[in-house]
Amino acid sequence: MVATFSTAIDPKLDLFDEIARLKQEMNAIILAHYYQDPDIQDIADYIGDSLGLARQAATTDAEVIVFAGVHFMAETAKILNPYKQVLLPDLAAGCSLADQCPADQFAAFIARHPGHIVISYINCSAAVKALSDIICTSSNAVSIVEQLPKDQPIIFAPDRNLGKYVSEKTGRNLVLWQGACIVHETFSEKKLIQLKVQYPDAEIIAHPECEPHVLRHADFIGSTTGLLKYTQTSQKRSFIVVTESGILHQMQRARPDKLFIPAPPEANCACNECPYMRLNTLEKLYLCMRDRTPEIMLDPQIAERALQPIERMLAMS
Ligand code: 13P
Ligand code: SF4
Repeated sequence: MVATFSTAIDPKLDLFDEIARLKQEMNAIILAHYYQDPDIQDIADYIGDSLGLARQAATTDAEVIVFAGVHFMAETAKILNPYKQVLLPDLAAGCSLADQCPADQFAAFIARHPGHIVISYINCSAAVKALSDIICTSSNAVSIVEQLPKDQPIIFAPDRNLGKYVSEKTGRNLVLWQGACIVHETFSEKKLIQLKVQYPDAEIIAHPECEPHVLRHADFIGSTTGLLKYTQTSQKRSFIVVTESGILHQMQRARPDKLFIPAPPEANCACNECPYMRLNTLEKLYLCMRDRTPEIMLDPQIAERALQPIERMLAMS
């Protein structure tokens, strides 16, 4: 018999209290990415970038990991904790980068480039990780490439923009898989320049998933944690932030005295919000803890093969 769960929530419940109660009862930890809704960030035990979240998942004592982020992040937590329950509020919370790199096509691509080390950005499926030698995130990609011998040919996948940025920073010629993030490719160079004219003192800070014509205007480029830290230490008082707008919640919280301006997308839309990340809601977070589903399940053989490149990354970071 298939278990069914009611998605009805008693309107009298205080979801913050209920989630806190369930967390204790389950011995769970809630890990959240900066691109989650402010409510979710406020209730999380840890908020971080992909590397920070993977590190937390690798070291937590909690029995259950509740992942408020996207599928590849929860999958990474499961690979690091095959015997723990990993819950994701909405299994449809995917990622355009992961979707654009199917494992069978990637295997054929690798076969066409013999002798190359395969570095894959953590934004990919477990099956793609299993085909890779080293995983990286936006905060350690440059350093990982720099740790490899200069004459070592490298495949970098799946983000062409991060790959190009790493190639420029390291002076290395990387073979790039042509994937991209739908959110970070939405920013308009023209509107960014117009904003800069409007706020001439503001620094432009950008995530390396942005396109090169946007990155060339940036005063600082970094992962979400890198951007957040930069805004705390920079002498400047205003910033144009070129990444998913969820990060502004922590920026504003840490420095209420500073001004944070989200960079505008090309179209008149909320396209600078990741449609996958934003599938998670406080209600779904509560339901997934109450019902202990949806849970991340992985093919054990793929998970075992995917573990090694993740562990290499953690050791090299
Ligand atoms: P980081 O948090 O590692 O900078 O990555 C951003 C991102 O797009 C996550 O999907
Ligand atoms: Fe993927 Fe882009 Fe969303 Fe990050 S912001 S999860 S890279 S689609």
